[in-house]
This record gives sequence, C-alpha cells and structure tokens, in this order.
Amino acid sequence: MDANNGEKSTVRSVAYSNIALAKYWGKRDSKLNIPAVGSISITLDALETKTSLYFDSNLDCDELKVDGNAASPKKASRVLDLIRDRAGISDFAAVNSRNDFPGGAGLASSASGIAALTVAAAGAAGLELTERELSIIARRGSASAARSIFGGFVELHTGTARDGSDSFAEPLMAASDWPLNVVVAITQLTPKATSSTEGMLATSGSSPFYQTWVENAPSALDEMRSAVLAKDFQKTGELAERSCLAMHSLMLTTNPPLIYWNPATLEVIQLVLRLRNEGVECYFTIDAGPQVKILCESQNASRIALELIEISGVEEARISELGPGAHLVTKP
Ligand code: PMV
Repeated sequence: MDANNGEKSTVRSVAYSNIALAKYWGKRDSKLNIPAVGSISITLDALETKTSLYFDSNLDCDELKVDGNAASPKKASRVLDLIRDRAGISDFAAVNSRNDFPGGAGLASSASGIAALTVAAAGAAGLELTERELSIIARRGSASAARSIFGGFVELHTGTARDGSDSFAEPLMAASDWPLNVVVAITQLTPKATSSTEGMLATSGSSPFYQTWVENAPSALDEMRSAVLAKDFQKTGELAERSCLAMHSLMLTTNPPLIYWNPATLEVIQLVLRLRNEGVECYFTIDAGPQVKILCESQNASRIALELIEISGVEEARISELGPGAHLVTKP
C-alpha cells in the first residue's frame, strides 16, 4: 500500500485469467450471480490484469478505467458495494485496470479483472478476508472471477444455499503438482458481440438442451475432478473438449443462436486434431468467444505455437504456464 495520490491510499493488485476445463453456463440465481453448475478451471499466468484502486470521499460514483479508457463500473460496483458494506465505509472508488491481453474478447478478462479488483478493494478497505470470502465476493461481479482468486487447478461450487454462501471457489491442486501448459490462439482482438451474462440468460430461456446440461453437470464435474487429481492427461483433455463442445452446443441451440466462433477457431480445432494424429498430445477448449486454448505438456508448447501462427486469422499464439492466485503488489 502506498499513499501517492494526495491523501488517498492507492492499493495495487494483480490477477490472472483462467480457463474452465469443466465449464459453467447458466445461473442458478441471476441476482446473486450463482452459477447453475459447478466448474473446474486452471489459472493462466500469461493473461494478466493489474489493478490500482483508492477510495475517495470526493467521488460521486465508482469510476473504472480499463486499459486507459472509461468503462462501465456495473460489475465492479457490485463487488465494491459488498466491500463497502463489510467495511462500513461509503466512499466510492477510482479503479484503474490494465490487461496485457485483449479485453472482452473471450479471454476471461472479467475473471482476472474482477478478481484483481476484489483483492485490491478488500486491501484498500482494510478488510482481512479469507480467500473463500474473497471468492464469494468476486463471484458476485463475475462467477469465473471467483476461480481467479486461486492459482493452479480450481473448483467453483454451485452450492445449494439460497444466499449463495456455499457457492465459492477453492483450490483443487497446486500448479506445481501438474505443470501443464496452455497455448492461447488469439483469433480476434475486438470485443465479442454478446456478453456471457446475456448469452446465458438467452440459453436458459430457449435451448431445448439446457435442462439436460444442468442435470448432467454433477457427473461431468466428478469425472473431471477425478481425471485432474489422477493427473490423467488424456482423460482430462478429452473431458475438457467434451465440456467445451457441450457448452457450445447449448449456445448454437439458443434462439437466436449464439455463434461465438470464427473461421480461424475451426481451423485451430482441425490443427489440434491433426497434431494428435501425429502423436502430439493436445486438446482444445473455447469459452464464449472465438479464441482457442490448447492444453498440452510443456515439451510440445513451442511446436504447437509455431503451427498456430501459420494459420491466417491467428493473430497471436501465446504460451502460458499455470498461474498464481490474485494478490496485492507494491509496484505498479
Ligand atoms: O462468469 P463469466 O460471466 O465470466 O462467464 C464465464 C463463462 C465461460 O467462460 C464461457 C465458462 C466458464 O466456466 O468460465
């Protein structure tokens, strides 16, 4: 913490994006932002958000800047309201957030952004919260953000409590226990047309397969948890692809359809299948956007990245290791 903003104490934090191996899509409670199904993710150290924040009695509302531009503080204010309530303060906050990757484009900038914000706001408010409490607060801003509170392999529970008190994330396995790599194929630099929140609402209201997805989720999650804990790469990868394709099937059967992919997305999927045939074990997964994340072991990451950048439409191939959880930092 340092006091470099007049009288105001600026707190800085960093958090990393995550990618779900077992996806969630849909809400059990929209108002409390409780996911309809549990999920399992890995935190990625190559997709980072740095945030600085101070509370200021002179502000009339929360102010958010993302990558230098003024942005809607709607999600951030949901988190800040909870922090203010807990701390018994009423000041609004000025938040400055910087991503080292394209925001709003399906690379989970809301996960890293809201996780970084939650940790910084709790620090600035002088709250000492457990990581579980931080994850519950972060979840209110963006459910995937609950997972970015932690590093490595993480599980987010849907829970059953009406108030969402048992819908929290927790670590499943440390990154060092199974140091997988992810090669991120960035196929679009601009924000997506339909946000995850809007998309999920549309799906639950119109896809004929939504109920089946919710019913199947606990067993899919159990299978994924077992595969991860057994460090069974083939099983983990196959289940991740299945979860991804099941989620995109829901999106495609939403009315009107949600088609997040572009031609390069499909080319990258074909590449993954070809590489597997050639003996390079790797698996794809895709969130609500056209970007593809390829799960692999470290010895294959460079080869995969080199093949990716040959595909026209792949703007960048970024190799990521598994990252740490959100934390406070002292330097910008
Ligand atoms: O919680 P949100 O609004 O960031 O939505 C995340 C949705 C997916 O990324 C598509 C799936 C997931 O489990 O992360």
